Amino acid sequence: MKKPKQNLQQGMQPINAQTTLNAVIGYPLAHSQSPSYHAQLYKKQKLNAVMLAFPTQNLKQYIEAAKTLNIQLTAVTIPHKQAIIKFLDHIDPAAKAIGAVNTVINQNGKLTGFNTDILGIAEALKRTQLRNKNVLVLGAGGASHPLCYYLNQQHAKLMCFNRTYTKAQQLMKKFKGKALKSLDHVQAKDFDIIINTTPIGMLPNTNVSPLPKHLLAKHQTVFDIVYNPQQTKLLKQAKQAGAKTISGLVMFQAQAEKQVQLLLKHKS
Ligand code: ATR
Repeated sequence: MKKPKQNLQQGMQPINAQTTLNAVIGYPLAHSQSPSYHAQLYKKQKLNAVMLAFPTQNLKQYIEAAKTLNIQLTAVTIPHKQAIIKFLDHIDPAAKAIGAVNTVINQNGKLTGFNTDILGIAEALKRTQLRNKNVLVLGAGGASHPLCYYLNQQHAKLMCFNRTYTKAQQLMKKFKGKALKSLDHVQAKDFDIIINTTPIGMLPNTNVSPLPKHLLAKHQTVFDIVYNPQQTKLLKQAKQAGAKTISGLVMFQAQAEKQVQLLLKHKS
């Protein structure tokens, strides 16, 4: 008889009765790399845990399930990073100031929200001078909040362009920057750093970019928080223009590593 194939895919550990359950929630989730990257980290840390992806739109139901099933860590992604706050028992002060949660830790049914995105952002931008630099943030959703919080801390000058202007206005009011109504009257020289926080360019729609090509130039640094694909159309065009580029994968991996540290710290 043929031996059954071992489940070695993505470094997964054997599952037994002590295995604890973690989850990533969002919608859609088909391209999330959290389950496979967490599996690698659990293996490294010798943690008997698995992470499964739950593509849900109903947060209330999920919160009940997380308590019932004792889901220890929940990685929270688009579009739930802000909406989840009202369902939690405690919010870490930094996550509160940012206004978004990407990690929930469950301790005996009490849920605490954290934001590890900001550490991922800091890692991705650690070699980029930010003080007094003109930064264009594309998008004004959940991911833009930790980013603008960090850019504020680093004394960058913020501008934001978003499909819904009022959301850009709200974001720039909170983080003291300028909301742009359109990109028609700006030039590449107006921006030192460009950061995409929208899902534009993400799989499966890889042939689109959130920014017209003529706004990219050699003096710039361009960071795309989309990590799937690693080289988005925006980053390819930025490279062609001679700009420095930073892939979202750096941020993704650093924020996931911090999630596992939080899990280890709060393990019951
Ligand atoms: P969330 O708002 O929950 O973070 P999101 O739907 O991924 O998640 O949106 C992130 C940002 O990208 C939002 O600012 C969104 O614009 P709106 O504020 O107008 O909703 C922007 N965005 C998402 N899809 C877009 C698209 N196809 N074109 C332009 N902007 C888009």
